[in-house]
Amino acid sequence: MLDSAIKEELRNQQILPVFNTTDLTFDIKRLEIFLSKNSQIKNIEITLRKYNSLEIAIELKKRFTNINFGLGSILSRKDYEIGSNEGFCFFVSPGIILDLVNLKVKNYIPGGESISEFMFLLNNDYKIIKFFPSNLAGGKNKLISVESILKEAMFIPTGGINLKNYMDFISLRNVLCVGMSKFDE
Ligand code: 3PG
Repeated sequence: MLDSAIKEELRNQQILPVFNTTDLTFDIKRLEIFLSKNSQIKNIEITLRKYNSLEIAIELKKRFTNINFGLGSILSRKDYEIGSNEGFCFFVSPGIILDLVNLKVKNYIPGGESISEFMFLLNNDYKIIKFFPSNLAGGKNKLISVESILKEAMFIPTGGINLKNYMDFISLRNVLCVGMSKFDE
């Protein structure tokens, strides 16, 4: 359900920056500095947490034309539809939006933290799953436990992951990349 080119890029970049917006001027500077030091980053998730996050996301997308921007904190079909109409590349939820799963929406990355959620998503052809909140839901050990059972699943663990601990996750076979809001700290 995720475009294979984006999937490969995520695998290569190892970290999916989860970008929480502040204000446009600051956000542009922050991204310029980060991208100047991290040329391997091709995909960034911008969370829709603030009243003006979408507006900022649209501006960032216009400025950083070499980056595929996705939207995060997608909580409803409406959030997805607005983002899709604006031309964003992928869409990430902290949980499952049933409507989107039933519609087999492409480039949608649903979230889950339990084995039943993982099974439900796999049975609905969503094999790339945001594992959230990783730090509270079992972290690395949970992913190791399910690896030999849920063979098709590839996870994007997110929540409590930082530049000091992310390699613990990247080394796992069932991890595509990690999500991280502290990507430049
Ligand atoms: C998210 O929105 O994906 C998470 O809040 C990111 O978690 P982190 O801030 O612990 O990286």
